[in-house]
Amino acid sequence: MPENEAHRRPPGEDREDRHMVHVHVFDTLALVAEDHQHIIQGVTGPARAAGQSHVHRIRVRTSYYDGHWHWFDIITGPAVETMDGGHVHPYEGETSYDDGHSHDVADTTAQGPDCREEDEDFDEMTLPPSNPKSKPKSGKR
Ligand SMILES: [Fe+2]
Ligand SMILES: [Fe+2]
Repeated sequence: MPENEAHRRPPGEDREDRHMVHVHVFDTLALVAEDHQHIIQGVTGPARAAGQSHVHRIRVRTSYYDGHWHWFDIITGPAVETMDGGHVHPYEGETSYDDGHSHDVADTTAQGPDCREEDEDFDEMTLPPSNPKSKPKSGKR
């Protein structure tokens, strides 16, 4: 075994137990601009504390159409509990400006888990710093 093998993380393991924090699937269409739409779908970033609730980052590239695509990079709204105990997040924003236009986007994520227990853990979490370089280091990558 190479000397640094013991310091490597096994596949699937993440730092700071971020793999234990839930995410949501999202799947929507950007509103029409310049006579076309783009598909926007993917998986949010892990939950991050925000006030008494939590939010997720969505950062994806739209589908390609007629020679261009856009970026869509926003923070969702706080969790909205659903009747069966899960939760969703509303989100809205605007894509990047490319090919002379942008698209408005507004929808809700797919359902996530019951977040009441997880929210208790968020009390000890803080929002990530705006400058990633100032983030405390917890080990080698
Ligand atoms: Fe969530
Ligand atoms: Fe477009």
